[in-house]
Amino acid sequence: MITVVGSINMDLVVQTDLFPKQGETVLGQLFTTVPGGKGANQAVATARLGGNVHMVANVGNDGFGEELIENLIVNSVDVSGVTESTEVASGIANILLSDGDNRIIVVPGANYELTPACIDEMKETIKKSRLVLLQLEIPIPTIKHTLEICAELNVPVLLNPAPAGGFQKEFMTYLTYLTPNETECEQLFGLDMEAALESYPNQLIVTLGSAGARYFDGKKHIIVEGFKTEVVDTTGAGDTFNGAFAYAIVEGFELTEAVKFANAAASLSVEKFGAQGGMPARADVELRLVSERR
Ligand code: ATP
Ligand code: RIB
Repeated sequence: MITVVGSINMDLVVQTDLFPKQGETVLGQLFTTVPGGKGANQAVATARLGGNVHMVANVGNDGFGEELIENLIVNSVDVSGVTESTEVASGIANILLSDGDNRIIVVPGANYELTPACIDEMKETIKKSRLVLLQLEIPIPTIKHTLEICAELNVPVLLNPAPAGGFQKEFMTYLTYLTPNETECEQLFGLDMEAALESYPNQLIVTLGSAGARYFDGKKHIIVEGFKTEVVDTTGAGDTFNGAFAYAIVEGFELTEAVKFANAAASLSVEKFGAQGGMPARADVELRLVSERR
C-alpha cells in the first residue's frame, strides 16, 4: 500500500492562443475545471496503474471539495484520510495553457489546513504503508512531521520537491528518493546537476522533460531516455512520473526499470488534456514499453 500525503486542487484551466503580457487582456478559447493538485494527481496516477493508494489531505466544505473527493473515489483511491475544513475553501490552481506550455498559480486554501496533528491521526495507515509519497503543496511543518513519523515507523519516503520553495537540505537524511525536475534540482542544491547527482547516489532522480530522467548509481551516471510522443498538455507529467515510479518501486522493480516505467507512463499522460486525463493503466504502459523495444 502507498500513502500519499499531499494537496488536492480544482484546476481552473484556460486554453489560450496567447499568454497575456503585463497589463494586457486577451481573449481565450476554452475554460474547463478538472481535478488536480500534486498529491491527488500522484495518488490517481498510482491507482490507475493498479496500486493500492490511501490519500491524506484536506479540502474545503464546498462544491469543489465534494467533486474532488468523488473523483478520488471513482479512481479507487481510499479517502478515509481526507478531511474537510469548514472555514477555508478548497485549493485551486489557475492554469493558463497555450501551445502545450503552461503557467500556473496555486491558491492552497484548505491544503494549508493539513496540520501535523492530522498526520498523527493517520499513524496506523502510515505504519502499514510500503512507501509514503510527498510533494510540497502542504505546510512545511506537516512535511517535517510526516518525515519524522516515517523515520520512527521505518517507512520509506519519496519526496517530489514541487513547488521547490519550502525544501530544506536536511530532508535528504529522511528520504529514500527525491525527484526534482532540472530547474528544481539547481534551485534546491545550488550545484550543477551532475554534482548534485553525485552527492546523492541512487537517491536523487532528476526528471528531464521529454529527455526522460537520470540518476547517479555511485559509479556512473545513468540516463534513462524518455519516449517520443505527441504532446497535448504536459500538466501532470511530473505527477504521473512520480505516481508510476512509486508504484514500480513498491512492485519491486529495480531502479532503472522503475524510472523507465515512470517515463513510459508520463509520456502517455502528456497525450491528453488535464493533469489526470491521460494517466494510463498498467497495460497501456506495458504496450508503450514493448513498442519502444521494436
Ligand atoms: P510538469 O510540471 O510538466 O508536470 P515536471 O517539470 O515536474 O513536469 P518534467 O521533467 O518536465 O517534470 O517531466 C516529468 C516526466 O514526464 C519526464 O521525466 C518524462 O518521463 C515525461 N515527459 C515530460 N514531457 C514529456 C514529453 N514532451 N514527451 C515525453 N515524455 C515527457
Ligand atoms: O502538477 C500539476 C498540478 O500542479 C496541477 O494539477 C495543479 O493543481 C498544481 O498543483
